[in-house]
Amino acid sequence: MQITAGMIVEKLDQSVIVEAGAGSGKTKSLVTRMLALIAAGRSTVDHMAAVTFTRKAAAELKGRFQIDLEEAVRKEKNEEKIGRYLSALERMEFLFTGTTHSFLCEAPEGEAHRGEARS
Ligand SMILES: Nc1ncnc2c1ncn2[C@@H]1O[C@H](COP(=O)(O)OP(=O)(O)O)[C@@H](O)[C@H]1O
Ligand SMILES: [Mg+2]
Repeated sequence: MQITAGMIVEKLDQSVIVEAGAGSGKTKSLVTRMLALIAAGRSTVDHMAAVTFTRKAAAELKGRFQIDLEEAVRKEKNEEKIGRYLSALERMEFLFTGTTHSFLCEAPEGEAHRGEARS
């Protein structure tokens, strides 16, 4: 199936694997998909995990998501969606963005992972 950029945002029921070069808009697409999940009431920030390769990229991703949420609050007319965006902004600290390593260590199951690493 041909995957288009629009499908990344619209096909919220399907998992999507995207391979694309640097600067092609992968982070933009991921952030827009996260925003669409919030807008649709399909997810909340405390149920999301955005995993990247570097801490710098993880911090950038969270920053861009926050900026896009703030912009969405300003532009959105639908009160219900505005409420979901505001709730996401209030609960930003519960959004996991991090590296694969921090994900394994910080996720609830990470306790077992850490234990194994030490023994
Ligand atoms: N659909 C888009 N519309 C406008 N700007 C975009 C779009 N996609 C990406 N950009 C911009 O292009 C640049 C690279 O996008 P980014 O998502 O960081 O790429 P990647 O993660 O694939 O390296 C960023 O400045 C981003 O804001
Ligand atoms: Mg990127």
